[in-house]
Amino acid sequence: MTAAPQRGVPGTRPEGVLDETEAAAHVREMFGRIAPRYDLLNHLLSLDTDKLWRRRVARRFTAILHDPRARVLDLCCGTGDLAFACRKEAPGGAEIIGSDFVPEMLVRARAKAAAARAAVEFMEADALHLPFADASFDLVSCAFGFRNLANYERGLQEILRVLKPGGTAGVLEFAEPPGRAFGAMYRFYFRRILPLLGGMISGNASAYTYLPMSVGRFPSPGELKLQFDRAGFVGVQFESWTGGIVTLHTGRKT
Ligand SMILES: C[S@@+](CC[C@H](N)C(=O)[O-])C[C@H]1O[C@@H](n2cnc3c(N)ncnc32)[C@H](O)[C@@H]1O
Repeated sequence: MTAAPQRGVPGTRPEGVLDETEAAAHVREMFGRIAPRYDLLNHLLSLDTDKLWRRRVARRFTAILHDPRARVLDLCCGTGDLAFACRKEAPGGAEIIGSDFVPEMLVRARAKAAAARAAVEFMEADALHLPFADASFDLVSCAFGFRNLANYERGLQEILRVLKPGGTAGVLEFAEPPGRAFGAMYRFYFRRILPLLGGMISGNASAYTYLPMSVGRFPSPGELKLQFDRAGFVGVQFESWTGGIVTLHTGRKT
């Protein structure tokens, strides 16, 4: 499989998809189909490292999370794991809402919240058309969801719109690791092994060929930082973890 980098792309474009509407429909349908095995595959294919990454994101925002007056939106929350990591970081703290546009993911997120008695609310919402008033949140987080948006610029504008002045955005995404030896090994795993395993276990091979392809086409960490800057965020920074497999971008609204 090839993952030809297409820099400057407006948003995700799964194979064979021509425009934003089709891309969003494809993404929605794909995540609906893999939802039943999503958690299992996440933990298995990352050898549980995904849990550490989300915990680390939550720890970055500990000051906001501990403030009981703060409101937090976890965008593209899927089955809720980042929202739960945030809740765990500050059990009696901020109000936390998770939103996603795939009901099959939200059903699982709500069941997990009920089982763990975790105070997190989940809502169905498209990240590109959020049903929240301007300046509603102190923190908007997003783990592994932003890359799937059909329009990155609009996604950033929508995050900015719902952030309060002084509010923070944190976007965790996969990246292509730069190191030569590690990069080559990782690419082999990510492009060859992961789609095979993911396809076998989820019964949906295309979702797990889409994953490395979408990462290959996603803006590099430096390019994404520029997109944050251009969107109007201030103090934009990124840090790479686990040899550059994932990157956390943060920025504030003035
Ligand atoms: C790879 S999953 C990540 C889920 C979760 N944040 C996590 O850390 O496991 C990506 C999620 O983004 C959601 N998503 C993609 N595009 C979206 C959009 N435009 N609006 C809302 N959710 C979206 C998908 O439904 C899916 O649940």
